[in-house]
Amino acid sequence: MQKSISGFSKFSKAEKINWLIANYFTNNIQARSILESYWNQDQKLQQLHDEFIENTISNFYMPFGVAPNFLINDKLYTLPMTIEESSVVAAAGNAAKFWMSRGGFKTTVLSTEKNGHIHFTFKGQKEAIRNCFEALKPQLLKATAPLTTNMEKRGGGILDLQLIDCTSKMAHYYQIEVAFETVDAMGANFINSCLEQISTTFEALSKDASILNGFLPEVVMSILSNYVPHCVVRAEVSCTVDDLTLNGHFTGNEFAEKFIQAVEIASVEPYRAVTHNKGIMNGVDAVVIATGNDFRAVEAGVHAYAAKDGQYRSLSHANIKDNVFRFWVDLPLALGTVGGLTALHPMVKLALELLEKPSAKELMQIVAAAGLAQNFAALRSLTTTGIQKGHMKMHLLNILNQLQANPNEKEQLITHFKTHSVSHRAVVEALKKLR
Ligand code: MEV
Repeated sequence: MQKSISGFSKFSKAEKINWLIANYFTNNIQARSILESYWNQDQKLQQLHDEFIENTISNFYMPFGVAPNFLINDKLYTLPMTIEESSVVAAAGNAAKFWMSRGGFKTTVLSTEKNGHIHFTFKGQKEAIRNCFEALKPQLLKATAPLTTNMEKRGGGILDLQLIDCTSKMAHYYQIEVAFETVDAMGANFINSCLEQISTTFEALSKDASILNGFLPEVVMSILSNYVPHCVVRAEVSCTVDDLTLNGHFTGNEFAEKFIQAVEIASVEPYRAVTHNKGIMNGVDAVVIATGNDFRAVEAGVHAYAAKDGQYRSLSHANIKDNVFRFWVDLPLALGTVGGLTALHPMVKLALELLEKPSAKELMQIVAAAGLAQNFAALRSLTTTGIQKGHMKMHLLNILNQLQANPNEKEQLITHFKTHSVSHRAVVEALKKLR
C-alpha cells in the first residue's frame, strides 16, 4: 500500500481524515466516528485546540482529577491532576490527608536560575578567544536589550554570561553559558531569543577582532538547557516516629525503618531508583500537565539531576534523627504560570485558578509536594500491604467498563472480587456466568 504523501499539511481537516481512512483503517465508518466523537461541539474551542499543533484531526482526552487536603507551608490546596493512570490521584489524596494532620508539607525554593548555551568551535589560541569574549561581553549584553527590557521590568533578565572551555570534552569546543532569571515565565522563548541574538552578535563582532589572529569562532547551535540544577525546590515532611504508626499493624519505628531502607535501596540501585523516581513523577507530571507546563522538559531535567553524581539515584531522601522521621525531595523544576498554554487553554486557566493563581515559585513548591506525596504513598504501600491491592480495585473497574458491565453487574462483581484474584480472564468468566 502506498502511504507516503506530500502537501498533507495543506489539506483541510476533512481531507486529512479521508486520506488516513483510505490508507490505514479497514473499518472506516468506525474510525471516522471515533475521531469525530472527540471533536468539541463548540467551534471556537475546537479551533483553539486545532491550532495548538499541526495536522490536528481530533482531540485526545486525559482525565482531569483533583486531590484535596494538601497543606503546604500552612496553606491548604486542592491540586489539579491530569493523568491517565488509576490510583495516582487517590494515592495523592491519601498521602495529603496523612500529612495534613502531621504539620503538612514544608517547601522551599532553593534557586531559580536557568541556563542556555551558545555551542561553538574555535581552532585558535585559548587565550585569544578568552580575551576576545571578555572584550565583546558588554556588546553582547547590549545587543539583547530590546529583548530583555520587559523581563527586567518583571524582575528577571540575563544574570551572567561566561565563556566555558569544553576542549577536554571535544576538540575545539567552547560554550558561552548564559544564566537567566525568568520570574513567572518558563522562559523558553525568551531564553532562546536572547541566545540567538548573542550568537549572531558574537559571530558578527568576532569577524573584526584582530585579537583572534584570523581564526573565527563557528557557532554550532544556540539553545536553552532543560537541565536546571540551579532551579531547585525542596519539599519535606516530618513527624515523630511514634506518629507514623499505621492502623496498629506496624509500630512507627517498624514502618520508619522499612521506609528508610526502601529509600536507601533506591539510592544505591538504579533498577529500583528508576521506578522509585517514576512514582515521584506520577505526582509531578500530573500537576505539570494540568497547569500547562512542558512535562518532557521537566522529565528530562529531573532524570538528569537524579544522575548528577554519575549514578542514577533516588531523588528523595529519608532519615530519623532524635526520634523525628524526615522525608524530603529536591527537584529541579523550570515552570511557568504566565505565557505559553497558561493563557490559552481553558482547563489550564481553571487549574491555575484552583491553585489561586500561583507564582512560578509557588507552583514549583506545589509540584514538589505532589511528587513527595506520591512517593510517600507508593513506599507506604510497597513496604506494608504491597501495591496490587489498591491497583487491582481500579483495574477491575477498568475491565468491567471495557466489557460494558451494567451498574448491577459491577456491584455484584466488585463484591465477588473482594475474595477472588482479579485477572482479565477471571472477570470475563465471572461476567459470563452472571449474564
Ligand atoms: C506506579 O505508577 C508507580 C510505583 O511503581 C512507584 C514505586 O514503585 O515507587 C508504585
